Amino acid sequence: MTNIQTQYAGLKLRNPIIAGSSGLTGKPEKNREFEKTGAAAIVLKSLFEEQIEMQGQVLLRETDYPEAADYLYQYVKANQVNNYLDLIKATKDCCSIPVIASINCYKADAWIEFSRQIEIAGADALELNLFRLETSLTEPDGYERSMNIYADIIRKVKETVHIPVIAKIGKYFNNIPAMANTLKANGADAIVLFNRFYQPDIDINSRQIVSGNVFSNHSDISDTLRWTAIVSGMIPGINIAASTGIQEWEDVVKCLLAGASAVQICSALYTHGAEIITQLLSGLEEWMQHANFQSIPQFKGTLNYANIKDPAIYERAQFMKYLSGRD
Ligand SMILES: Cc1cc2nc3c(=O)[nH]c(=O)nc-3n(C[C@H](O)[C@H](O)[C@H](O)COP(=O)(O)O)c2cc1C
Repeated sequence: MTNIQTQYAGLKLRNPIIAGSSGLTGKPEKNREFEKTGAAAIVLKSLFEEQIEMQGQVLLRETDYPEAADYLYQYVKANQVNNYLDLIKATKDCCSIPVIASINCYKADAWIEFSRQIEIAGADALELNLFRLETSLTEPDGYERSMNIYADIIRKVKETVHIPVIAKIGKYFNNIPAMANTLKANGADAIVLFNRFYQPDIDINSRQIVSGNVFSNHSDISDTLRWTAIVSGMIPGINIAASTGIQEWEDVVKCLLAGASAVQICSALYTHGAEIITQLLSGLEEWMQHANFQSIPQFKGTLNYANIKDPAIYERAQFMKYLSGRD
């Protein structure tokens, strides 16, 4: 009998596949479909503070009463936040798997305020979608500043809520293990490696900035595997959800071998539909049976940085010929 349960961020999951945050998880009926096809948890689309501000500004431009700015902002905010709380409640009503809410803020007090309301609405956990792109020429220590800001947010949110708090980060940091370690030390119950940000492209005919590939592709999994293996091998007890580039059942197995406790999928849900979850699960179960594993802990992390003979293989940036076997 194969047991594919896993523990992630203090949640007991029936299997390691989580539907990652996106527009798809912004609809309760879609979340129900993900549960039916096998998802073990759902991360709801993020509530973005910046989007609330932008909508407030649009309304402000349309009014003849600029003194109403504060009132308009508060109105838009209350409306958006209430819609989000309704999404949590409606998804909880139709799903029995854990529902993880997600927020992205930039003002310190917004993280706290939203977290409190989200816990009251009944979310089982909270994912903090942390995003700062450092571009300052005059402040080269931006990485350290980001780390301090993230640590501060995690600590304050953990002081506010009792549900598990998960940190989702991007891959553009000098030292990802140090970042993950700091987040864990400040209370993060799990880390998501990685978020995928808007990819800009240029249309040479219209000479406009346009959207590049919205969805990840299979080659994006290399960074996910490298950092999952290094971070899980270096930081004992850390819980990781591998995310970015997971398209096939083999990718799920690879992420678990690298040390992930769970995986989050998003692009695959857009391109293949909810049924992909069932396919990933049967591939995982068949592989486990074939390899004679009865449960995930028997093989989780066996190929991480701490458990392989030559851990430097995960760190090598050079020697392309030697490593790839190509001239
Ligand atoms: C269309 C789209 C919308 C997304 N919206 C969100 C979001 O609201 N919040 C968030 O944290 N991540 C969001 N993401 C990122 C995904 O949750 C995921 O981390 C990323 O796409 C990498 O996983 P993948 O390779 O399976 O797509 C979005 C991704 C896509 C493609």
